[in-house]
Amino acid sequence: MPDKVQIKVTVNGVEHHNEVEPRLLLVHYLRETLGLTGTHVGCDTSQCGACTVHLDGQAVKSCTMFAVQADGCNLTTIEGLGSAGNLHPVQEGFWEMHGLQCGFCTPGMIMAAVDLLNKNPQPSEAEIRHALEGNLCRCTGYHNIVRAVQYAADKMAGKIGAAADD
Ligand code: FES
Ligand code: FES
Repeated sequence: MPDKVQIKVTVNGVEHHNEVEPRLLLVHYLRETLGLTGTHVGCDTSQCGACTVHLDGQAVKSCTMFAVQADGCNLTTIEGLGSAGNLHPVQEGFWEMHGLQCGFCTPGMIMAAVDLLNKNPQPSEAEIRHALEGNLCRCTGYHNIVRAVQYAADKMAGKIGAAADD
């Protein structure tokens, strides 16, 4: 097995070329090689969802795959979703509906919720809970997270105007 493998990935619209060890997990590549520390590591064993990113438009747990498996792919991390002055509707929903406390789970929750809304723009409460069941939160009790996703769905459907703080 070679010591290092050349990969090319596009992350948040920026192309990166790096030599990585074949055993390097994608989450560690994002955090340590690219410095994108918004993607968190909560367990390293596929349980918590804190490491969720989008790979070619699909939510994946980035601790469950190697960086070399992302070669040639397009990735989006929480850093690529919105900015402080221009929040994604899901980010706005978490802000408006108090969908976080410590915030550790939040990037993964948001990436999973965006994936849900991309596939199902008007999910029921049960569908939201089902879609997020791979993401653990030890603080909120989940109710406000569900409300945040419902807010985002309504915002994306044009049922809610601009945020009060805009
Ligand atoms: S760090 Fe990937 S699922 Fe927990
Ligand atoms: S807000 Fe603390 S783990 Fe979810």
